[in-house]
Amino acid sequence: MPNILLIGNGAREHALAEAITRSPQKPQLFSFMKSNNPGIASLSVKTMPGSYSDLEAITEFTKQNKIELAVIGPEDPLNNGVVDALVKINIPSVGPTKSLAMLETSKSFTRNLVSKYNIPGNPRFKVFTTINGVERFLNELEGIVLKPDGLTGGKGVQVQGDHFETKKDALKLCEQILAGDSSLVIEEKFDGEEFSLQCMCDGKNVVATPLVQDHKRRFDGDKGPNTGGMGSYSLPDHSMPFLKPKDLQDGLEITRQVAAALWKETGSPYKGVMYGGFIATKDGVKLLEYNARFGDPEAMNILPLLKTDFVEVCRHIIAGTLDKIKIEFEHKATVCKYVVPKGYGLPADHPDAASSKARIEVGDVGKARLYYSSVDKKEDGLYLSSSRAIGIVGIADNLTEARKIAEEGVKAVKGPVAYRADIGTDALIQKRIDHMTKIRKN
Ligand code: GLY
Repeated sequence: MPNILLIGNGAREHALAEAITRSPQKPQLFSFMKSNNPGIASLSVKTMPGSYSDLEAITEFTKQNKIELAVIGPEDPLNNGVVDALVKINIPSVGPTKSLAMLETSKSFTRNLVSKYNIPGNPRFKVFTTINGVERFLNELEGIVLKPDGLTGGKGVQVQGDHFETKKDALKLCEQILAGDSSLVIEEKFDGEEFSLQCMCDGKNVVATPLVQDHKRRFDGDKGPNTGGMGSYSLPDHSMPFLKPKDLQDGLEITRQVAAALWKETGSPYKGVMYGGFIATKDGVKLLEYNARFGDPEAMNILPLLKTDFVEVCRHIIAGTLDKIKIEFEHKATVCKYVVPKGYGLPADHPDAASSKARIEVGDVGKARLYYSSVDKKEDGLYLSSSRAIGIVGIADNLTEARKIAEEGVKAVKGPVAYRADIGTDALIQKRIDHMTKIRKN
């Protein structure tokens, strides 16, 4: 009965907690959370509240509970060096050290790494620390993406056409970003369809999990502001309906080369999840960004399908022996819909913004699975916070059934909440296919 430490408090970590505790080895789960996730708490033998920057509290909790290994869910503790702190007390982790987590925490680090090692997938890009030369580079690009060079909670990237229109607007935004602490990566914008390729990596071996497509926009029809992700789907063949087999191979090959480059560059193997945000374009697969963790919501699509013992997978990641284990996933479709406060993603002065403090009731979600995210369990019930509240996942032999299960489940959550009804619908998926067909023809 191994003792496992889980750090994190979101729906992704609830799915991780479920994958860990499903292990036939009957592990005991110890969870360190910055807020009390009732789903994770119910699966844990002990929980500890605290900040992800309090490395002393985390290592103390670890020592007290004879932990064998740690699984780190979100990027913040990685960025704070939690894995380095655990290494110092001889506790191995599924999750990279602070310098390897730069794969996610520094956009310029990853772009420069990919360029230096001649790995395909980069856009045209330049890194700026002052405004000198910015206007000239903006004028060289057709479409523009601006990325502050640090963690921004998924909300810092600004895309032409979505967040701003003209080059003049872009220049103003660049001035604002550079006036703050951050350096800035300016990139060419790609046209295409995005997909998430979450890989497990032991430093040398890289294993793909089923592909997922997330939906960032707040409202149906891909309208409204960008969010952390409103929901996602995956298919029984583990691919995406708008991709060719070569697209997956190319994304995986880029990830393998990046893992090798990381080892060469830092002298240490990357052990954890390399989640590549890729985009299929008319010129093939391109890299948007890497995350050093599972996606949220994408973890909820793939972890429930994992047939292999996740604790064993974690041990192989740590030992550098992922080539010695067969990692299998069920061939089922999944649809995840996030239930969010009505005001989620909207300006603070919006009339719906107050919804974020309201109480909700959760009834019977039927055949769906429920993963708690940012909810606060008080004595008199469950309260919303300002962020995504509950992930509802339908799993079935085909996408239509999976979507129906998720849709039924979502209706069991009562209160001032919202969700995207179009995720996993035939119409939205056909739109993606048509878009990609048009792009490939041009
Ligand atoms: N699905 C977006 C993210 O996890 O960052």
